[in-house]
Amino acid sequence: MEVIEHDVVVVGGGAAGIRAAIAAIEEDPNVSVAMVSKVYPMRSHTVSAEGGAAAVAREDDTLEMHGYDTVKGSDFLGDQHVIEYFVEEAPKELTLLEHWGCPWSRNEDGTVATRAFGGMTTKRTWFAADKVGFHMLHALFQHSMQFDRIVRYDEQFVTRLLMEDGAVKGVVALDMRQGEVRLIRGRAVVLATGGAGKCFPFTTNGNIKTGDGMALAYRAGVPLKDMEFVQYHPTGLPGTGILITEATRGEGGHLKNSEGTRFLVEYDYGLGTKAELGPRDMISRAIIQEIQAGRGIEGPYGQYVHLDLTHLGEAKLKERLPFVLELARTYVGVDPVTQPIPIRPVVHYMMGGVDTNIDGATDLPGLYAAGEVACVSMNGANRLGSNSLTECLVFGARSGRCAVAFARGASAGDEASLRAQGEEEAHRIETLRGKNKGGETIAGVRREMQQAMEDGCGVYREQGSMDAAVSALAQLKGRYADLVLRDTSKVFNTEIIAALELGNMLDVAEAVAVSAAQRQESRGAHTRRDFTTRDDQNWLHHTLCHFDPAGPRIDRKPVTLGHWEPEERKY
Ligand code: FUM
Repeated sequence: MEVIEHDVVVVGGGAAGIRAAIAAIEEDPNVSVAMVSKVYPMRSHTVSAEGGAAAVAREDDTLEMHGYDTVKGSDFLGDQHVIEYFVEEAPKELTLLEHWGCPWSRNEDGTVATRAFGGMTTKRTWFAADKVGFHMLHALFQHSMQFDRIVRYDEQFVTRLLMEDGAVKGVVALDMRQGEVRLIRGRAVVLATGGAGKCFPFTTNGNIKTGDGMALAYRAGVPLKDMEFVQYHPTGLPGTGILITEATRGEGGHLKNSEGTRFLVEYDYGLGTKAELGPRDMISRAIIQEIQAGRGIEGPYGQYVHLDLTHLGEAKLKERLPFVLELARTYVGVDPVTQPIPIRPVVHYMMGGVDTNIDGATDLPGLYAAGEVACVSMNGANRLGSNSLTECLVFGARSGRCAVAFARGASAGDEASLRAQGEEEAHRIETLRGKNKGGETIAGVRREMQQAMEDGCGVYREQGSMDAAVSALAQLKGRYADLVLRDTSKVFNTEIIAALELGNMLDVAEAVAVSAAQRQESRGAHTRRDFTTRDDQNWLHHTLCHFDPAGPRIDRKPVTLGHWEPEERKY
């Protein structure tokens, strides 16, 4: 078995992972960093981000305002010291990215242009038309290529963490190109593998977002935090779930029901004058309510409402939202210049993730996490749109630096013991190859898992539906052992990858359902029909979900408050 040695291993090649790798080198140019990614880095899910990245840039804005908006958006479940650090670092990180080549759109006077986004009190979302993730990822990736000491391992699927004496010592990775398993040793590991939207059937997330890093950490004993908070983005294309960016509303787009009414203006959904610029949890609920009130529009993929951009004019749409024009024309045959776009709420983002502190450190020595895989607790119960790209940079950088500091004082581990773990993992993977005994298919189990999640943990939830999801998932985990696989080949055996990903998703989905079923209040994206109000007395705390072979175990962790006192969340 091939054994490779580095100081720090970063798992993931999206914005958080690349930023962590660069920060590690900036911290110590002599450090050697492995960047291990399931896909070629430019295919990481960051590339599909559209609308922008938030940071204070204008004279009418302040760090205090960005901080308050984020705390309020989180429904007061965000940790305030984390949010304060985030808003301070955000402008520095976005400026740095400009120096690395990110082509931020400009105002007439040459200053960086910013647009409005939901739940933000002023225009603070930096953008590069509506292809922000693409441009950010390019800038990061190209900048990273100048560092010889960042060594890339593309198309390597990490399936296990290497451990010694309760500390992390690297990873086991399956080289998807050759089908071989190798050890990549490191004295610190940073997980930056993104979220787990594919646990649901209808999502903006690419197929690669299968909760891999969350499952790795969880099984190694690190709790998953606040998993009940799953963000539905209000505007996904029916059928595919492709994201139609919130920037459409930032630029002035309107949501309309079947009667052509701007329902967020005409009816009271608690959004006040914010209307289409409200936070995602509230707008998603309003759309569902419109549909349930019989004011939706019937389509081949169920009910939807309209996103109307026709009044913005072709010139503005071409300049600010060219990708939206392309997506709507290609995927639903609608020209936004003259026709409204059909949209409905779609799973977009996990507020929860691997429990970390502000350094990105977990309780497992040597293990760090940043970006959507992590829950550093800045998003609480509802993330504001455009905070996450910046979060990837701010906490990717901090995790990378802290991982280097940790690695300096840590041992590399005993090769024989690490090799034995690798052999064990290679054997586990080998038994999956062409495992032709069993009665369950990957697609069948995955479909049932996704349906259970949609039915139990959707925009609206109640005890019965969440409990049903919990039981369905426990049963599906049992059936997973009975999967049948047919492909015996080694090169790009995508069936094995799909089976391993499904195992990860089942663990993560169960953590979501179990965490949701125990929280008896409505807060942010966790909206219960049977407990309709927020209950700070009993529930102003984070949820921790621990892995246990007998079933997930729930615990709690205090929220760090600060000078923003919890108050009723009104807009
Ligand atoms: O709508 C969007 O462009 C998404 C942005 C985000 O999730 O931050």
